Amino acid sequence: MSRSAHPAGPRHADVLPEGHYAGPPEDLNTLDPRVWSRTVTRNDDGAAEVGGLDVRDLAAEFGTPAYILDEADFRARCRAWRAAFGQGADVFYAGKAFLSRAVVRWLTEEGLNLDVCSGTELAVALDAGMPAERIALHGNNKSTAEIERAVTAGVGRIVLDSFQEIARVAAVAAEHGVRQRVQIRVTVGVEAHTHEFIATAHEDQKFGLSLADGQAAEAVRRVLMLDSLELAGIHSHIGSQIFDMAGFEVAARRVVSLLGEIRDEHGVELPEIDLGGGLGIAYTTDDDPREPHEIAKALGEIVARECDAARLTPPRLSVEPGRAIVGPTAFTLYEVGTVKPLEGLRTYVSVDGGMSDNIRTALYDAEYSVSLVSRASDAEPMLVRVVGKHCESGDIVVKDAFLPADTAPGDLLAVPATGAYCRSMASNYNHALRPPVVAVADGRARVIVRRETEEDLLRLDVG
Ligand code: LLP
Repeated sequence: MSRSAHPAGPRHADVLPEGHYAGPPEDLNTLDPRVWSRTVTRNDDGAAEVGGLDVRDLAAEFGTPAYILDEADFRARCRAWRAAFGQGADVFYAGKAFLSRAVVRWLTEEGLNLDVCSGTELAVALDAGMPAERIALHGNNKSTAEIERAVTAGVGRIVLDSFQEIARVAAVAAEHGVRQRVQIRVTVGVEAHTHEFIATAHEDQKFGLSLADGQAAEAVRRVLMLDSLELAGIHSHIGSQIFDMAGFEVAARRVVSLLGEIRDEHGVELPEIDLGGGLGIAYTTDDDPREPHEIAKALGEIVARECDAARLTPPRLSVEPGRAIVGPTAFTLYEVGTVKPLEGLRTYVSVDGGMSDNIRTALYDAEYSVSLVSRASDAEPMLVRVVGKHCESGDIVVKDAFLPADTAPGDLLAVPATGAYCRSMASNYNHALRPPVVAVADGRARVIVRRETEEDLLRLDVG
């Protein structure tokens, strides 16, 4: 689903989709900064280092598979987003990409807000000290218990997704004597150019209230009539792993146009709009993501222009990047278990994880890169498919890639850009134990989410 592909030489043309591959990379030892987090380098031994730590030492201490998260990179990305959007806008990190208490603390320190989409994400956020007013609660089917938890904690906004929910949130807020700030999530009718499962603003899907059929305007009417709700603004999220700003432009135009209609019908100018997340990252070197300052500039200009045309005071803008902040900051470290050449086809390299720690390849046809990281190698490139250890042939981590032909059991491989939606979507398929997340910074490593143990699984299995 990323636009990227891996290159292949002519001798592989028969097994690879035509026009999709240009040839093996020049140097398999290069750890290209476009896909690796910023402190990753190779040391004099030829092994990769991150945060000043050799991956061989990380594997020895924490085991494999493991997600290795570059804290300096995470913080730098937070700062870049904050600086790009400035004081007149808010950046809500989308916790669904990856959430842990350490992450919440980093976000709090770096001045970001947080988007949560379940009562349990909210619990993590509150436990780690994110001030409730900096939290937004999302979801298309929030339970009354989740709403209650959010309202009583004092979250800054609840994003409403249906007529039933308007009534539900209003009732809970009234019961607790609270006037709850809310936004209404609208469906702007944009066809985002991404995988169907992660596009969210076309008409035929479960999120939001449609602008086109008048449901959004009706939701506004209902919310404005309820004393226990304060309508702060309109929300739109068009999908994920998007590179083209055109979809955001259409979304902004339609959201601002709704603000104009609300002013004309009700005489109120809503003070906020949220344009969601969805900005793409580089999974391979073929992906060319926009920088936060380019995104901020483009969105700011679109909103200003549309507001000017509609004679509206520009509302306070917020965005909700998840993947674009955490995605590039982590890689998954695996150990090679078997290497199986299939004559005339390719070589299957099995690692000690798979679809339980990265479901994205199987689910979205996602493309990833992979490198041998425990040593450098001058061997010829060989075309590989990196697969996991699960009982399923779709258990693919990296569909098409090149590794040195001498890659062997015991080598360490790393798959970059796995910070988003890998640990957070990990499963226990085949009773796999979900890997730890190890944060590294300035020559120190610490586990921020520990590896699951057999006891953890057995404790759930109550016989
Ligand atoms: N805001 C809202 C309301 C969302 O629904 C999402 C993602 C985001 C922000 C953050 O989007 P991001 O910037 O991370 O793309 N599991 C899929 C992605 C699902 C995203 C769901 N919503 C994947 O692995 O690609």
